[in-house]
Amino acid sequence: MDISLRKGYLSKEKCDLLVVNAFEESGVGGATESVDLALDGKLVKFWKEDAFKGKQGSTNLLRVGSGIPAKRVVVVGLGKKEDFNLEVVRQAAATSLKVAKSLEAKHVVSVMHGVGNGGLSARDVARVMVEGVRLADYTFAKYKKDKTVSPKLFEIVTKNGRHVRNGEKGLDEGEAEAAGVVFARDLVNTPGMDLHPETLVEAARKVAKGKGSIRVRVYDREKLEKMGAGCLLGVAKGSVHEPKMVHMVYTPKVKTKKKVCLVGKAVTFDSGGLSLKPSQYMETMKCDMAGSAAVLGVFAAIDQMAPKVEVHGIFGAAENMPSGEAIRPGDVLTAMNKMTIEVLNTDAEGRLTLADTLTYATKQKPDAIIDLATLTGACVVALGEEITALMSNNSELSQKILASAEEAGEKMWEMPLEKNYKKLIKSEIADIKNTGSRWGGAITAGLFLQNFVNDIPWVHLDIAGPAFAERVVDPYTGKGGTGHGVRTLLHYLRSF
Ligand code: BES
Ligand code: MN
Ligand code: ZN
Repeated sequence: MDISLRKGYLSKEKCDLLVVNAFEESGVGGATESVDLALDGKLVKFWKEDAFKGKQGSTNLLRVGSGIPAKRVVVVGLGKKEDFNLEVVRQAAATSLKVAKSLEAKHVVSVMHGVGNGGLSARDVARVMVEGVRLADYTFAKYKKDKTVSPKLFEIVTKNGRHVRNGEKGLDEGEAEAAGVVFARDLVNTPGMDLHPETLVEAARKVAKGKGSIRVRVYDREKLEKMGAGCLLGVAKGSVHEPKMVHMVYTPKVKTKKKVCLVGKAVTFDSGGLSLKPSQYMETMKCDMAGSAAVLGVFAAIDQMAPKVEVHGIFGAAENMPSGEAIRPGDVLTAMNKMTIEVLNTDAEGRLTLADTLTYATKQKPDAIIDLATLTGACVVALGEEITALMSNNSELSQKILASAEEAGEKMWEMPLEKNYKKLIKSEIADIKNTGSRWGGAITAGLFLQNFVNDIPWVHLDIAGPAFAERVVDPYTGKGGTGHGVRTLLHYLRSF
């Protein structure tokens, strides 16, 4: 599917589906009004007879006989004017794509939602429309016989030449962001039998291929032993697949002193290990590498986006399996920073792999570390399936990430790294243990990680809820891997 932006008049466009919009109560305006005029007011008249009221997410589809060259018109509701924002546009574009697909429309022409009377900038609108359309179009069809058909051409049309010029940049930004999200979704959706640490290494190489700006370094078991990565190695012990540590570096063309590390949890399948999960809880555990998928998604888009900051993408990949060689509850592991950890539950493996990965990240002496991890079920209990928990040792950095999430349309909420809870991860026989009490599990996991970042400004994102959708979230986020985190990180990097 080609998505483009050009000058034109909606009432004169020949296409299979014409997309226009309406606000709740205030009705049509701008470009949609011109289409209504060309249709002798039929557009408004017909929906007044229907139940359509312009509510956000609702649609009204009309077959057109004469008046305009388009075969069909769909009116997408934008909701109340006072609630209107870029997220509404993203969802409106996504909804229109869904309608186009259900009609098997080949050529779609859409109004540029909200640039005229909605008061949004052409660049932002172009960006979020591309995101909405691309992400709504996404399916994971690798293992399916029946594939869905997408339109050949989705054109955003405006009569204002200035909006076309300003929108071009947004179009590219949207394409880059969507490509990054799609790359992450594909990885998360791939079953554990087809995705191993080695597969994530290949993904990193694929992302870097042909791009002079990205280098990849890989550490195998032998090197990890020399580096003292006892925790990552410990988690991998039960699996026949060897662990890998991957380090990608993006160097911008412009000179910069700023350096950021993006760290992702990369457990390619989490069975729980000897502390085996109940089978129902295991069903979605191919998603346990979603943190690393988000980092890889960022790197898939980074060259095109060209942020003015040096970016390191780091993940320690392993599979968590039970076997005669697996680590046992009660075992003690030594991390790369020499701390000892009593493993009381082998299912709290994410924090173990991250202990070594974060230690490695601090050695790069970055200005900031941001980690993404499907870390705790407790986080999903606290915030539900659609909100990421943010924890941080630095309020300036956490405010920046929260602002980036807001811009990107991803939901995040801060939780405290409560010092008083540190007692919950004290061990009788080692420096710390890998489980807390029954309560506050997302926070004790965050406090555990804090031991491995020294005093470098750091944000921890527990994405256990939003990384994998067990039900449809919105018109552009269906079931399965969501690529959550990619857009927030790209917005953050763009702010340099
Ligand atoms: N990967 C899981 C966390 C998870 C749960 C991710 C649900 C996505 C959805 C993690 O490794 C885990 O098993 N955590 C345990 C920790 C506990 C044993 C301290 C948990 O949350 O139950
Ligand atoms: Mn686990
Ligand atoms: Zn896990």
